[in-house]
Amino acid sequence: MNFTLSSKSIASLKADCLVVAVPENGDWPATTQEVDEALDGLLRQLNKSGDITGKNGNCLLIPVAGQPWPRVLVVGTGPDEERSPTNFRKAVAAAVGQIKDGAAGHVAIALTDTPTTGDDQAQSEANRLSLIGRTLEEQLYTFNAYKSGKPPVRKLKKVTVQASAATKVLKSAFELGLATGRGMNFTRDLGNTPPNVCHPSWLAQQAEKLAKEHDTIKTEILDEKQMKKLGMNTLLAVSAGSAQPARLIVMEYRGGKAKDKPYVLVGKGITFDTGGISLKPGEGMDEMKYDMGGSASVFGAMQVLAETNAKINVVAVIAAAENMPSGDATRPGDIVTSMSGQTVEILNTDAEGRLVLCDALTYVKRFNPEVVIDLATLTGACIIALGHHASGLLSNDDDLANELLASGERACDRAWRLPLWDEYQSQLDSNFADMQNIGGRPAGTITAACFLSRFTKEYRWAHLDIAGTAWHSGKAKGSSGRPVPLLVDYLMSHADQ
Ligand code: BES
Ligand code: MN
Ligand code: ZN
Repeated sequence: MNFTLSSKSIASLKADCLVVAVPENGDWPATTQEVDEALDGLLRQLNKSGDITGKNGNCLLIPVAGQPWPRVLVVGTGPDEERSPTNFRKAVAAAVGQIKDGAAGHVAIALTDTPTTGDDQAQSEANRLSLIGRTLEEQLYTFNAYKSGKPPVRKLKKVTVQASAATKVLKSAFELGLATGRGMNFTRDLGNTPPNVCHPSWLAQQAEKLAKEHDTIKTEILDEKQMKKLGMNTLLAVSAGSAQPARLIVMEYRGGKAKDKPYVLVGKGITFDTGGISLKPGEGMDEMKYDMGGSASVFGAMQVLAETNAKINVVAVIAAAENMPSGDATRPGDIVTSMSGQTVEILNTDAEGRLVLCDALTYVKRFNPEVVIDLATLTGACIIALGHHASGLLSNDDDLANELLASGERACDRAWRLPLWDEYQSQLDSNFADMQNIGGRPAGTITAACFLSRFTKEYRWAHLDIAGTAWHSGKAKGSSGRPVPLLVDYLMSHADQ
């Protein structure tokens, strides 16, 4: 697929289809007015007759004659005052959904002069372009690697996105959007790969592949023997029952100044979570292949940094293991000593994410991090608390938390903060060890983060629980690519220009 940015007027844009916006109230954007005039008021007429409603995401495809574009797709963008970046993106997604398998080989999209709420409009055009780029990549994603037979061929080959100017700022915003979409799609590929292929060592190979493709990324893979030597016993307690050995995958992206402290990302990489001896119920267990979603989002973000040559230092650490029951598996009641020296009574082997993460969080101290952000499909309780719309955010640093919330808002990849108050810590008291790995039913997402917080005291840290956001269930089952957009927005806001 060919994506280009153009500042040509729509009258001189030749394409098989032109996409313009009609809001539900307020003034029409200049390009839409221009198209309406060229069509002798056809759009206004269709608006009057109720064929064009302006409701967000409503689409109407109109064949037209005597224009450089034989079709116009009108997409509703809702009322001006409700057009958050998220609602704007929904409209873009609806439009791309209409054209992706249509008759047009070349589509021109003229949507950036539709205002969004929030930032000033000059800055917003850049953000809108970025959202359009990302949404294009996202909507055109397919995953056919495991279907026999030829995948269907698309007519659509080229998309031109029209903007007010072809300035450096707008160009790089569009490029960043496209790269973010590709990063999300990489994340989705990893997540959707079946768990009989996506093992810890397969994930390690993907890191090596990424490092081979980009000179700026270096990778180091630790095997179980090396982890044992480091004292990573809580991580190894999770892989103990599996025939697949665990891996600690380290990727370093050095795009910033040598002296700049790195931003560290830590990903939960459970390639399949059966629950171990605390076995999960059978229904829907296949979805536990997505339990490496945190690590998949780290991969996606690293690819975006490398593709855009971001001027920042980022270290990624992925704790990859498979959680299986067997004669060698960890038992409920086992006590192990973590790399930090703190002992953990494992009362439930299904609370394994925190066990692999705590050793990884201890390991990353060696990088002298600016901040550490971990990403994990950690608790079912997070889905109960926030559903599938927001990731859970917990942090020991208010500034970091607020920045991540703002990034999520801008990038249409929202998070919502939950408290990490001391009062919750006692739910982890153990009769026999320094702590137990479960905190009972109340506030399950918070007590999981409380567990992690005991290993992150020496740096600024945030935890994103993506249990509800990393993938979709049901008919649209598949990885979502979240929270790559949030991560990219945050990291880019700290990159040198
Ligand atoms: N990977 C799961 C969390 C999960 C469950 C994510 C369902 C998305 C959907 C995690 O390892 C887990 O099993 N957590 C337990 C913790 C409990 C035993 C304290 C949970 O949420 O039930
Ligand atoms: Mn589990
Ligand atoms: Zn899990």
